Amino acid sequence: MKIGFIGVGHMARSIALAITDVKDSTLLLCNRTIQKAIDLQKKIQNSKVSSFEEVIQESDIVFLGVKPIDLFPVLDQIKELKTHALFISMVAGISIEQMQERLDVPYIRILPNTPVAVKKGLTLYRCSEDVTPTQKETFLNLMKGSGEVTEVEEKDINLISVLTSSAPAYLNYFIDALIQAGVKEGLKEDATYYVLKMIDGTIALDLESEKSPLTLGKEVCSPKGSTIEGVQQLLDSNLYEMVSKAVRATYQKNNKMI
Ligand SMILES: NC(=O)c1ccc[n+]([C@@H]2O[C@H](COP(=O)([O-])OP(=O)(O)OC[C@H]3O[C@@H](n4cnc5c(N)ncnc54)[C@H](OP(=O)(O)O)[C@@H]3O)[C@@H](O)[C@H]2O)c1
Repeated sequence: MKIGFIGVGHMARSIALAITDVKDSTLLLCNRTIQKAIDLQKKIQNSKVSSFEEVIQESDIVFLGVKPIDLFPVLDQIKELKTHALFISMVAGISIEQMQERLDVPYIRILPNTPVAVKKGLTLYRCSEDVTPTQKETFLNLMKGSGEVTEVEEKDINLISVLTSSAPAYLNYFIDALIQAGVKEGLKEDATYYVLKMIDGTIALDLESEKSPLTLGKEVCSPKGSTIEGVQQLLDSNLYEMVSKAVRATYQKNNKMI
């Protein structure tokens, strides 16, 4: 099977690295700045750097990994070529209907997240009506190495993906803020290690526990202890309102990406 990539930026590169376990497949890599495709090719044994035309004409499956602003020009370019491929678009904010209006081919729309790179991703997906059961099965097989894959309805995708695809950015900013704060108070080294180990353990506990994250959070705050002093600062600084504004801003942008 030939699996093509149009665009191998941050997200598509992670997916390409996650699906390399698939037997008897060749990855055809195309990127506007060719060096990115060359660098990725060196990391994936069964891959080659390919032209746009080669990817579209020869692949059975094509991942579209370009930014939203580049998607329609890419679809117009595909229209000029012969293709038998199933197209998998990871482009945020552009629905299957919008893509099919421009180029009428079968699509699976996916919203992956960056943990795909370490095979712990959570990818939302939705199929167009003309995707066959065999194509869907092939897609699910391909994505196995990337983590979890969940089918969602179109009406929900722009909102759920705020929490699954965009929130890794929010979380990483919070992690960095914690590290910076530790350093500011005088921690000389290992701040990053301490914070990342803490996050790892906290999430493992949250996943295993039957208690809600809020209950688990409250359990750390002994009455009159030191933790509650810090938590109170976060609440006084409108933590919930701030996060709610972030989610709303990303969601609204998802709804008017083009
Ligand atoms: N990052 C995430 O966490 C995330 C999560 C979910 C979905 N997404 C979606 O994934 C897509 C890519 O995001 P990203 O963060 O990976 O962006 P990115 O790093 O900028 O990657 C986009 C890539 O597409 C290439 N490209 C643009 N036009 C092309 C063309 N005509 N032919 C071949 N390659 C072309 C770009 O090449 P150049 O090197 O020349 O710029 C670039 O390498 C976006 O649509 C985004 O909505 C991202």
